[in-house]
Amino acid sequence: DSSELTPFEIFFQKIEKFSKLHMKDRDRVQEILQSMQKAGSKTLQVISDFDMTLTRFEYNGKRCPTCHNILERSDVISSDCKKKLQGLLDKYYPIEIDTTLSVEEKLPLMVEWWTKAHELLVNQKIKKDGLAKAVRDSDAKLRDGYKDFFDHLHEHSIPLLIFSAGIGDILEEVIRQTEVFHPNVKVISNYMDFDESGVLKAFKGELIHIYNKREGALLNTGHFQELRTQTNVLLLGDSLGDLNMADGVQDMENILKIGFLNDKVEERKQSYLDSYDIVLIKDESLDVPNAVIRFLT
Ligand code: TMP
Ligand code: MG
Repeated sequence: DSSELTPFEIFFQKIEKFSKLHMKDRDRVQEILQSMQKAGSKTLQVISDFDMTLTRFEYNGKRCPTCHNILERSDVISSDCKKKLQGLLDKYYPIEIDTTLSVEEKLPLMVEWWTKAHELLVNQKIKKDGLAKAVRDSDAKLRDGYKDFFDHLHEHSIPLLIFSAGIGDILEEVIRQTEVFHPNVKVISNYMDFDESGVLKAFKGELIHIYNKREGALLNTGHFQELRTQTNVLLLGDSLGDLNMADGVQDMENILKIGFLNDKVEERKQSYLDSYDIVLIKDESLDVPNAVIRFLT
């Protein structure tokens, strides 16, 4: 008899029905959610990765672009540079998702990928005023339900940190053009540095790549200090490196980690189940995070 179910039980039954949702320890997930709900929405902050977490992995059977891919496929880059960036992607992406290599083995190779890619980009003399068009012309796509996600967090004054190893200028443009770059959104990412004539001359600050989000978080203590009363965290990611995005959070009470598993599903399923509380397999929507946020607010 459903009339005897508590609001929590009704909510949990609903999310458990999503066929793409997997959990290793449902009791633990229940505990975290109940504890977060008890603490109230004023204590909540959301920390999310960008590429392949807030953006779609696939659309109509075609891969969607990352921040880097948006530039790579645009006309601000020469065809020779496109080939080289594609070459890097072909070499290093398989390493990123390889399950036979450890993080220690992958780390120097990932630094190599980012460093080479950024060098190529800087050599292209990219103009700041060409970025908006590059994004407009691209196939970048936020996941289904993105509007609900961004708007709801904004309406409830819940801080959203987008923590990305992509390119800050590009990801900002994506969320600006989709009209969800609300004032509660803060971005930590690789930002381009332009000279006085608006030409890309370097990238600013410390490089953020897929496996140093911990260091990136610790360089931004000011942000986490401002949010020290938001001790409950909803974390969204698609890589195991994203699990470190909350390492700067102060006095953390609870964290619920939701992971999108987009590629190499069979090989990576167990490691994702071991490290993310909820794993969404080949789900191109934000339906589950949205349901969780609605329950918590
Ligand atoms: P994220 O932290 O927002 O997910 O961004 C990292 C993604 O960027 C990662 O999945 C790999 C991808 N990437 C490219 O697609 N092309 C590149 O040249 C580089 C350096 C990274
Ligand atoms: Mg990602």
